[in-house]
Amino acid sequence: MSAAVGDLVGRGASGEDLGTPSESLSVLNMWDADPALGRVVLTVEQIAKRVAELGKMITADYADRPPLLVGVLKGAFMFLADIAREIQLPLELDFMAVSSYGRSTKTSGVVRILKDLDIDLTGRHVLIVEDILDSGLTLSYLRKSLLARGPKSLAVCSLLVKRSTEPRPDLELAYVGFEIEPEFVVGYGLDVAERYRNLPDIRVYLAGEPT
Ligand code: IMP
Ligand code: MG
Repeated sequence: MSAAVGDLVGRGASGEDLGTPSESLSVLNMWDADPALGRVVLTVEQIAKRVAELGKMITADYADRPPLLVGVLKGAFMFLADIAREIQLPLELDFMAVSSYGRSTKTSGVVRILKDLDIDLTGRHVLIVEDILDSGLTLSYLRKSLLARGPKSLAVCSLLVKRSTEPRPDLELAYVGFEIEPEFVVGYGLDVAERYRNLPDIRVYLAGEPT
């Protein structure tokens, strides 16, 4: 971290400025000072508004059959935490962690399960909660894997979908937060090499997609 960023963080940590109206601004400035970050694609307010809308839709659609939300770690952790609180139903939560083999080899579609679910899916109404859909291969694999476990229903909710001219596997996306341009983005759970997950909004990562 640069000295400038350290200074901003240190000021809050000293305790002197805590509780002042400028406190949240100084946190945002840390990100504004980062040369690797480009324009804000989605603001904190836009995300919160859309997540609340999705939560209402899911609440209505699942009123008579509370869902099991399956969060795909790590990218979806923040979205999952927020949307779960916007769903007014006695839902259940579980997590899966997957890693796509070499994002450069987009045709392979081979996904490794790093952490599997604890809960048995038999007879449950499962809703996969994903951060972002690019080629769709990760989700396609996940859907097949979860379908084989006998859920009563299976649907997908993805916060972001990248606009694409390439055909995608049919994923029956029931809920989509935003369609975005095919740029590499970070923040609100999305990372590049494990960084920027705690950026509160979603921004373009200027250094390009990691290989
Ligand atoms: P897909 O299999 O090509 O759809 O890739 C989806 C996965 O790649 C997501 O779950 C993310 O983990 C990651 N990913 C794709 N695009 C981005 C991005 O712009 N920023 C951060 N991660 C991304
Ligand atoms: Mg992901």
